[in-house]
Amino acid sequence: MICNDKDILHVMIEEARTYTQGGEVAKYIPALAEADPSVLSLAIYDGGGPCAAVGNTDETFTLQSISKVLSLALALMDRGEDEVFSRVGMEPTGDPFNSIIKLETNRPNKPLNPMINAGALAVTSMISGSSTEEKLGRLLTFIHELTGNPEIRYDEHVAKSELRTADLNRSLAYFMRQHNVFEDEVEDLLDLYTKQCAIEVSCEDLAKIGYVIANEGKHVQSKRQIIPLHIARILKTFMVTCGMYNASGEFAIRVGIPAKSGVSGGIMASIPHGIGIGIYGPALDDKGNSVAGMKLLEALSHRYDLSIF
Ligand code: DON
Repeated sequence: MICNDKDILHVMIEEARTYTQGGEVAKYIPALAEADPSVLSLAIYDGGGPCAAVGNTDETFTLQSISKVLSLALALMDRGEDEVFSRVGMEPTGDPFNSIIKLETNRPNKPLNPMINAGALAVTSMISGSSTEEKLGRLLTFIHELTGNPEIRYDEHVAKSELRTADLNRSLAYFMRQHNVFEDEVEDLLDLYTKQCAIEVSCEDLAKIGYVIANEGKHVQSKRQIIPLHIARILKTFMVTCGMYNASGEFAIRVGIPAKSGVSGGIMASIPHGIGIGIYGPALDDKGNSVAGMKLLEALSHRYDLSIF
């Protein structure tokens, strides 16, 4: 089993680490530019003992776009499919994650899917709660349940850094508010969204969340349904079609695993009915995906025959 192959995983991560030199850390959120680009870590969770973890596993990082999978799960549980998909579509874009272009050309003017920034802002507006604190608290409680780690919080430094510089997301939000995608005050929504993106995890936390999504939404020990089965399926499907943005098609061919990336360098992957994988490698390619993380997932997929296709 893959989790027992620690020596092989050590070799694989050091091979993949060479690719970090071909990437760059995200700079448009100033706090993310402080990351060390040579870092790479991997955790694999199979529901048994502890995660198999190799590389720089002590490093923690912010979820960034990986949080979009979890806010979508919560919004779907809160509002149901009909309401959520009346405000956000189900189609991949082929555009970068922060692109504005299809918001204007698509009719009606709703964002094309929940994984791009526009769609994620619309989804975050559908998390139930009477205040930002309550909505964020519900999201954190959900993540505590998924990971079994009640210590998870958001990183205030990263959240503030993004809020100060998030003018592109502000434009997306103002455009959507004008077109009645949501009614929230834009600054309140941006405040919640940047805190959601700044939730801080380890690659082991990520592997555990990936495992629950992989295994039909069931809690690891108690087998309690944390995410309804049909919602866990929706999440995996979006991870396949939109999870790596405008690299999703190539990633499906080369790797073939439902996965979601974030600009901090995290990747969460879920093999249906199988393992959860968490990766952290902050050196990114030009599409905003961890360059060494993708190479590592490709190598794992080939070696262990993990493609779902
Ligand atoms: O909204 C943003 O731009 C970031 N908080 C998240 C974007 C992101 O992670 C894209 N992922 N590769």
